[in-house]
Amino acid sequence: MSERIGIASDHGGRVLKEKVSQYLRSLGHEVVDFGVPVNDADSVDYPDYAQTLAKEVSQGQLPRGILICGTGIGMSIAANKVPGIRAALVWDEFTARMSRQHNDANILCLGERVLNHDRALDYLHIWIKSEFEGKRHQTRLDKIRALER
Ligand code: RB5
Repeated sequence: MSERIGIASDHGGRVLKEKVSQYLRSLGHEVVDFGVPVNDADSVDYPDYAQTLAKEVSQGQLPRGILICGTGIGMSIAANKVPGIRAALVWDEFTARMSRQHNDANILCLGERVLNHDRALDYLHIWIKSEFEGKRHQTRLDKIRALER
């Protein structure tokens, strides 16, 4: 099933963002890109991009999104400050699958400088197709949601 998927990166994630975007389009998804442009190497602040995308997802304009920086750490920290966001930093097949099945992650965070880019596309594919299992995991997400209030 094709989806509208948001994506954003800082300067440290823009090359992988381009590869991820092309891959998503090849799978038939619509990619909504919030920057930075792949050919713009100027240093920017990742919280600005995390906030823009996370708000889109949090407010329901996009079902889910992808954030990329050098390590993926800064993007995940910043995105998780936005209520309703469950941003998961993923680094292998297992974390990609678990972040969906157990955590219902609505934002995938990747690190351009720490991942093999071809493998990162494999993790992305697993993340896209894996589904939340609900039940006891929903109870835990409800407790996370309560922390936001
Ligand atoms: C930028 O140099 C770098 O700090 C950023 O891309 C990211 O890795 C932060 O977590």
